Amino acid sequence: MLRIDVITLFPEMLSGFLELSMMKRASQLEKVRFSFVNPRDFTEDVHRTTDDRPYGGGPGMVMKPEPLFKAIESVKTPESRIIHLSPQGKVFSQDKAEALAIESHLVFLCGHYEGVDERVIEHLVDEEISIGDYVLTNGALAAGVVIDATVRLIPGVLGGEGATEAESFSSGRLDHPHYTRPVEYRGHKVPDILLSGDHAAIAAWRKEQAVQRTRQKRPDLLT
Ligand SMILES: C[S@@+](CC[C@H](N)C(=O)[O-])C[C@H]1O[C@@H](n2cnc3c(N)ncnc32)[C@H](O)[C@@H]1O
Repeated sequence: MLRIDVITLFPEMLSGFLELSMMKRASQLEKVRFSFVNPRDFTEDVHRTTDDRPYGGGPGMVMKPEPLFKAIESVKTPESRIIHLSPQGKVFSQDKAEALAIESHLVFLCGHYEGVDERVIEHLVDEEISIGDYVLTNGALAAGVVIDATVRLIPGVLGGEGATEAESFSSGRLDHPHYTRPVEYRGHKVPDILLSGDHAAIAAWRKEQAVQRTRQKRPDLLT
């Protein structure tokens, strides 16, 4: 079972999502166990302060080191991989999701305000992951993206052997097109080959379609 701890000031941003669809199924199958850790629970002042002004001046607030050190240390074991969601991290990919899916304990540290005190990153974080070249207000949604892409790759979560093999990026190309009933809708027909019952011909058509659309939409994947 993969254990996932999310360190965030806003567990509500993810709790509903983790109780739905594939994430719910993964929990019910005991493939994953999600927990939240709120840095506010590791503060000692009456206001439960988690942020402060930046040394050196400037706009915004910075997440204080003490609650974050204590929050991380409350869940960290020798097997833990501590991941800081950050626009400064390496951009997330399907390959990374595959690597995370075979870990035993992932701890996602979600920043807020201007980010977290650099000492937390220097001394406790194993790696930083970005979900793309743009800036979010908070790391919780980014953690949700990484968790979703990772958990669905744990064997048995999606059901059906090889369910993810033909998916976009899994073999360095995009997925083939998909069709379902009805066979004709508003005059638009499903390709005849898919109705032929010839499994080898269908497999060859799908492969060719996948390569063709990768060339059109994402030629960078083929180089
Ligand atoms: C407003 S951002 C801080 C941005 C930071 N001052 C910078 O410019 O690098 C607040 C938090 O959102 C999260 N975040 C923002 N953009 C992200 C991205 N592209 N990928 C992952 N996390 C992101 C991080 O946890 C970050 O600490």
